[in-house]
Amino acid sequence: MLTLTVIRTLRRLCAPLVACLLLLAPGCTADSPKFKIGVSQCSDDEWRSQMNDEIRREILFHDDAEVEILTADDNNADQIRDIEYFVRHNFDLIIVSPRESKAITPAIREAYEKGIPVIVFDRAVDGPWYTSFMKLDNHGLGAAAADYIGSSTPRSNPVNVLELRGLDGSSPADERHRGFLERIDSFPDINLVSTVNARWKGEPAERYTDSLLRRYPEINLIYAHNDVMALAAARAAKRLGRRDIRILGTDAAPALGIRAVADSMIEATFIYPTEGDRVIRTAMKILHGEPYEKIDNVPARFAVDATNAPLLLRQNELLAQRTHQIEVLTDRNLLISSRHRTQQWMLYTAGAALLFLAVAVLFMVRSLRQRRRYQKELSEKNDQLRAERDRQDQLYASLEEATRSKLMFFTNVSHDLRTPLTLIAEPIEQVAEADYLTPVHKSLMQVARRNVRILRRLIEQILDFRRYQNGKARLELQPVRPLPLLEEWAESFRSVAVKRHIKYQYTFRGDREAVMALDVEKMERILFNLLSNAFKFTPDHGSITLTAGLDTANLRISVADTGIGILPDDKARIFDRFYQVDRIHPTGSGIGLSLTKAFAELMEGSITVESEPGKGSEFTVTVPVRYTATTMAETTPPAPAAPHPDHIKGVRSQIADDILTELQPTGHDGVPLDDTRPLLLVVDDNPDIIALLEDILQADYNVISAPDGKTALRLAGKYVPDLIVCDIMMPGTDGLEVTRKLKSEIPTSHIPVLMLTACKLDEQRVQSYDSGADGFISKPFSTELLLSRIASLLENRRRIYDLWEETGKPLASRRGKLPDSNDPLQVESDFYRRFMEIIARQHTVSELAVRDIADALGITSPQLTRKIKALTNLSPVDIIRDYRLRRARNLILTTDRSISEIAYEVGFSSPQYFSKCFRDAYGRSPSDLRMK
Ligand code: FRU
Repeated sequence: MLTLTVIRTLRRLCAPLVACLLLLAPGCTADSPKFKIGVSQCSDDEWRSQMNDEIRREILFHDDAEVEILTADDNNADQIRDIEYFVRHNFDLIIVSPRESKAITPAIREAYEKGIPVIVFDRAVDGPWYTSFMKLDNHGLGAAAADYIGSSTPRSNPVNVLELRGLDGSSPADERHRGFLERIDSFPDINLVSTVNARWKGEPAERYTDSLLRRYPEINLIYAHNDVMALAAARAAKRLGRRDIRILGTDAAPALGIRAVADSMIEATFIYPTEGDRVIRTAMKILHGEPYEKIDNVPARFAVDATNAPLLLRQNELLAQRTHQIEVLTDRNLLISSRHRTQQWMLYTAGAALLFLAVAVLFMVRSLRQRRRYQKELSEKNDQLRAERDRQDQLYASLEEATRSKLMFFTNVSHDLRTPLTLIAEPIEQVAEADYLTPVHKSLMQVARRNVRILRRLIEQILDFRRYQNGKARLELQPVRPLPLLEEWAESFRSVAVKRHIKYQYTFRGDREAVMALDVEKMERILFNLLSNAFKFTPDHGSITLTAGLDTANLRISVADTGIGILPDDKARIFDRFYQVDRIHPTGSGIGLSLTKAFAELMEGSITVESEPGKGSEFTVTVPVRYTATTMAETTPPAPAAPHPDHIKGVRSQIADDILTELQPTGHDGVPLDDTRPLLLVVDDNPDIIALLEDILQADYNVISAPDGKTALRLAGKYVPDLIVCDIMMPGTDGLEVTRKLKSEIPTSHIPVLMLTACKLDEQRVQSYDSGADGFISKPFSTELLLSRIASLLENRRRIYDLWEETGKPLASRRGKLPDSNDPLQVESDFYRRFMEIIARQHTVSELAVRDIADALGITSPQLTRKIKALTNLSPVDIIRDYRLRRARNLILTTDRSISEIAYEVGFSSPQYFSKCFRDAYGRSPSDLRMK
């Protein structure tokens, strides 16, 4: 982990570091200069090699440029190739001395037109295609030669000259010739005997000199355009014994021309400046965009003769020495700077590596610290987890202990209860069937009977479970045909299914005749438990399917229902002891499924559940087949005394009977409503409680009932009962919510609600009153208490509304209090005020109907009628009529309008009917009242 982090970190650091190194190492870039300069020399000789040396030396002073010199060896084609090479290789500038102007010009032009700067030197180009032209004064050189001859020859000594000229078509040869010719005109003693094209070369010069000296013996001076040709001429003259001939050369390259003068091989030579440094300086100016000369004129007129040659040679030597020293120094400098660069590079690299290392170390230290921190946190967390686990273990152990003692307590209590319960059960059984009982008493006895059975079943289950837990539960195996047996048991649920309109089906797969060893009682309990659960949790009109399959290995029983289903959280714990999925609606002790599982496991089988909340559940019990008919003979222990497999049919255990009885729907279909008695709605999810309440209340009240909150709200809206008795704990919409909803709806807000609960906690009382309940009574209740509470609630309500009097003046205002919307009476008084306001506004309309007022109040007319009746003991029609009569009475006493007019005005459709009603109400006719 740590190594990985470090590697990742190093990798992350690498890229920027390399970039930094490249930036920090300037020496690297110094090796690749910015500019490339190409030099194309047309020839190779002393003069040019001197110039090339100067070029190379000068370039050393320019770090940003490098030079490449190519020599064409007096060959036009070679020189063209050299120029093209520079172009092709993207040289930044070309310096060229063209051998023959015409032949070389096109190549120069091409380069120039491509945008490459071109410097022409020494020899001219045939056109304007150059950036700069370093023009050496060749014309001046020719003239200087003529001047030298003229001034060095005594008068009237004729000088007969042979001119050895450079290549025709190369500009220096032409210009030197012209300068010489023009100048000798001023000297009458100088005669040009012959000019020959020796092409700057020694061999033709030697050959021409030999033949021309033979032909023109009067020639006493040879003027050569360069020292190469001058020395060749000297050799030819010497061979012919003509030591008298004066020879003049050109160029004055120290190693050739000046040396020849010093050695008296020729008389003099004229300096033709090489200026290699100068041409490079111009090049750099061009490359750097600095100002430069387009045509750079270089003067040339100086002669080297016996008088100055030794000095010049000496100076040249010194210069050569200095140059050498400079070169050595430069080399050293280069070496040093290269070393310096290397050292610099190494320094930077070392620095970077150090930096890198430092960062890496830093990261490693950080990682280490982090790791230590994580480890610490981890171990702290581990400690916490361990502590938590220990706590959980302790909790679990104490829970186990609590459960164990609870179970033990239940067991003991169950044992204690069993005897008295049997003693209660028997008398109840006998009395329940007695003929002398009134129907109400009979019904009450049925309730008692059913509940004794429930108690008996619970006690049996607790004892069974305890037995299983203590390992005392034993399998009582006997050979049976499981499928017909299961079918018989399943069929006993048929009547419940029919009564509750539940679609109930069962299918059996396998050999009906197959026999297996089975603990019949436990199997019966398993099936009855599964089916009774399914029936308990499936609403009327739902469906329940039982599937049983028998093969040689297993007997599998599945019960699927379309009940409320089980939430995933509950599913995991549904088989836990005492775990109830529906805590509000405890249909048992929660032991039923645990016991089913225990029995299945005792049979070495298993139980599973598939469920989807809102859709239903499917429980599947699988038990292995112990032995079948075919293998029965080999089974141990043999069952010699085993009864016939069918002996068990038709027998059902007491508990199974109890379960079936429990499932039987109870309740009354409702008595026809009778107007003289108040209407009560009783709400409880326990059908026995409903049955009991109905029995108790039917003598004095009309009773309707609802098994859940939703139905209660529907019935309350429909019938607007005078009072509601409602259980608090119900599945779905509980009693508190039912009350809150009733109290928030105008049609039902006035109805007194009496809460019933099995719980005596004060908190529940507070909740009940908070929800708007008017009374509270806890289970178990005595009949007298219940009847008296109901009567007093109805009476109180009546008294309160009686106080409203006929005016319907709001009660709160009479109490001198501000209206309070949370005050239930205020709500009713507001409603009544709105009702009266509508009548005040609309009473003049003779067609005014109760339905119109109900519409205006947003409720139905039966609701309005029942509500007004409950509030005032009068019908809305009575109230309208009463209002009209009172208003008419007022008009009769205070206006002169006729009785008929008044009758119509207050909304009566005929004056006769008005008079009749008036008389009924006030005991006298309207006209009698007026007379008075
Ligand atoms: C060298 C050379 C010189 C002469 C010059 C003229 O190649 O022949 O001797 O002065 O060229 O371009």
